[in-house]
Amino acid sequence: MMRLDKMLAHSGYGTRKEVKEFIRKGFVLVNGEVIKDDDFKVDEEKDEIVIADQSVSYEKLIYIMLNKPDGYISATYDNHDPIVLDLIEGYENRGLFPVGRLDKDAHGLLLITNDGKLAHKLLSPKNHVDKVYYLKYDGTFMPYAYKAFEQGVFLEDGYKCLPAKFEMIKEGEGLITISEGKYHQVKRMMEAVGCEVTYLKRISFGKITLDESLNEGDYRHLSLAEIQMLEES
Ligand code: URA
Repeated sequence: MMRLDKMLAHSGYGTRKEVKEFIRKGFVLVNGEVIKDDDFKVDEEKDEIVIADQSVSYEKLIYIMLNKPDGYISATYDNHDPIVLDLIEGYENRGLFPVGRLDKDAHGLLLITNDGKLAHKLLSPKNHVDKVYYLKYDGTFMPYAYKAFEQGVFLEDGYKCLPAKFEMIKEGEGLITISEGKYHQVKRMMEAVGCEVTYLKRISFGKITLDESLNEGDYRHLSLAEIQMLEES
């Protein structure tokens, strides 16, 4: 059982404040009866809920795009630092987790979901989902390094990366596309060619691109089209 306003907000009918307003105005029916009480408890699986003549189905699977700020850990728990889930309000106990990791000091696109199957698919090394990062770095990105990235650069531990692409915006700034997600991968790849990453922001994941209207720390639900794009990634 859960509160009616929470259930509607979770199902994408507006913010908690907006759905409270709908409820108070008498737009919401539960099992055929107008309910004007926003803390009315509903069984989200069984009750028939109608809002402005539309039947509401409870959103079991949640897909969120977060613009991650610096300082947050990509995990579901940390006993020291704030975690990315601290930024997502109203979804406690819904089993949300971040799809993969961005370093604590990294920024940008992080998907948050409770769809384990999709996350597994997106993170599977077999699937080679492209990720694009914008970065700033210290040092000189030498001409040979483009080829090294294309051919698979060797990290300090001997690991040979999958082919990647570097596009310079200007010296000290560029875009890198990688299709795997090893620990500190971009930072270590740049180190392998003598550069040090000073700023890192993920701007796309598969076919999903960071919504630039999201300020750091803000998030929104993925559209159905975006969820489909992920399924196809
Ligand atoms: N590569 C990194 O070095 N850090 C990230 O957070 C993501 C990719």
